[in-house]
Amino acid sequence: MASRAVWRRGASAWLRASREPPGVPRSRGCAGARGSREVVPTCERYAVRRLPFGRLADGDVAFFERLMPGRVVTGQEEVRPFNVDWLQSVRGCSQLVLKPQTTAEVSQVLRYCHERNLAVNPQGGNTGLVGGSVPVFDEIVLSTALMNRIISFDRVSGILVCQAGCVLERLNEYLEEQGFIMPLDLGAKGSCHIGGNVATNAGGLRLLRYGSLRGTVLGLEVVLADGSALDCLTSLRKDNTGYDLKQLFIGSEGTLGVITAVSILCPQKPKAVNVAFLGCQSFAKVLETFTTCRAMLGEILSAFEFMDEKCMELVERHLKLSSPVADSPFYVLIETSGSNSTHDEEKLNNFLEKAIASGLVSDGTMATDYKKIKVLWSLRERITEALTHEGYVYKYDISLPVGKLYELVTDMRARLGHRAKNVLGYGHLGDGNLHLNITAESYSHSLLDAIEPFVYEWTARCSGSISAEHGLGFKKKQFIQYSKPQQAVLLMQRFKAMLDPKGILNPYKVLPSAHERSMS
Ligand code: FAD
Ligand code: LAC
Ligand code: ZN
Repeated sequence: MASRAVWRRGASAWLRASREPPGVPRSRGCAGARGSREVVPTCERYAVRRLPFGRLADGDVAFFERLMPGRVVTGQEEVRPFNVDWLQSVRGCSQLVLKPQTTAEVSQVLRYCHERNLAVNPQGGNTGLVGGSVPVFDEIVLSTALMNRIISFDRVSGILVCQAGCVLERLNEYLEEQGFIMPLDLGAKGSCHIGGNVATNAGGLRLLRYGSLRGTVLGLEVVLADGSALDCLTSLRKDNTGYDLKQLFIGSEGTLGVITAVSILCPQKPKAVNVAFLGCQSFAKVLETFTTCRAMLGEILSAFEFMDEKCMELVERHLKLSSPVADSPFYVLIETSGSNSTHDEEKLNNFLEKAIASGLVSDGTMATDYKKIKVLWSLRERITEALTHEGYVYKYDISLPVGKLYELVTDMRARLGHRAKNVLGYGHLGDGNLHLNITAESYSHSLLDAIEPFVYEWTARCSGSISAEHGLGFKKKQFIQYSKPQQAVLLMQRFKAMLDPKGILNPYKVLPSAHERSMS
């Protein structure tokens, strides 16, 4: 196998020629990924019954217009993008979008909605993938689009405090100017908001190195369902005074409160970034490449992503990207980030030489300059976008013991046969996180029934999680019991009832209603 290896170090002069300061703004935004197909209303497709919330009246709109003149959206066409999710898979029928600028305004909005029993759907960049970011019925959309102010940045501690509506990519650009980066990075960074990232506890491409938001978020300001503001916006690394309330809101997907500001610990911008893109002939070799890589790269390893050949085919076909590595059933993207380029490159080269000599890797290329790094990252980052060109996408985001990661894809492929157009897998292998995706020309109940609950039963048998990073939102809430015991779900329902007794915040999401629980 080693003799098949075409290691392009010589040829990668093209990759090395123009060293630019790394920083790796990897993504394009999310706009443009979708066509304009008509989306069936969620309540029809899933036969959901509207809960008895108040109905919007002219007097309500007049109140909001007085509160925030010019920042109340009511026109059907203007409201439409706030009703449909990024995947174009769910659709609500809200008639009102509110765009507050301050925490005080969010408080006033929620106090009013609480009194009037009007349901509210908090929304950031609307890039969520589980139907949590858009209304199911006529919930009022509370958008953080205009809450985009950086409040402070401390260069000594690396702590950033900002409003919830700051776009992740803008924050990263701001920090890079000061020699720092955001501790998270994801393909949606051009559109997603930091508040949305915290609300979903987004993982992404840097988690392997900088850990989860549960560690890097130091403080939050949150407005509760009754309009009261909870100021836990501290900037302390250590604080053991009582329960850590912010953790309750991280990953709560808009059901417990509206996050209005975030305090977050940001790492130093690495001085040297390298990316290797490799081909492996089997998943077993991908796994062995990972263990070898971890052992040899140690502290400089910052990402280990994988994708199968189907992903590559779709990225090439739909986005016209071309891979410098071909003809492999699996591809691996390895990133190193460190403070000494000579040291890092030497380490990476030693690892690559070993990986080739031992036949783990059959082909590969390496980039050390900013533009080529970006090109290699797009092959991985833009898979989600490429998939949307294939029709309807059934998306699963699973945590599994890393050795089992691809078995689920193989089993699902065998189970679905020709009923699915594609069954493919990619993801954050270093975090044990598989993105299993199934595509078909259009949505079908019968295909969904063939996938679910099989996929969740399979995951539960391996003691995995049915959501590693995207959350439960609308689409997965009734399956929570595959990953949490009943006592935990009951306790969650009690927290919800305590913080939001009228249930006005993002109803129909995250937690199963009693009816759905009894059905499952
Ligand atoms: P939205 O989509 O607007 O909302 C998501 C949820 O959070 C909703 O339930 C909403 O009600 C709630 N919410 C939003 N803002 C607030 C707030 N201020 N207060 C309370 N609740 C709020 N996720 C990952 O974890 N890792 C990835 O690598 C990753 N890559 C992605 C790549 C692409 C191309 C896309 C489209 C999505 C990706 N995602 C990924 C999904 C991910 O959940 C979102 O991109 C992101 O975290 C959501 O942020 P947002 O601002 O768009 O939130
Ligand atoms: C990713 C998203 C889908 O990792 O989470 O590309
Ligand atoms: Zn992901």
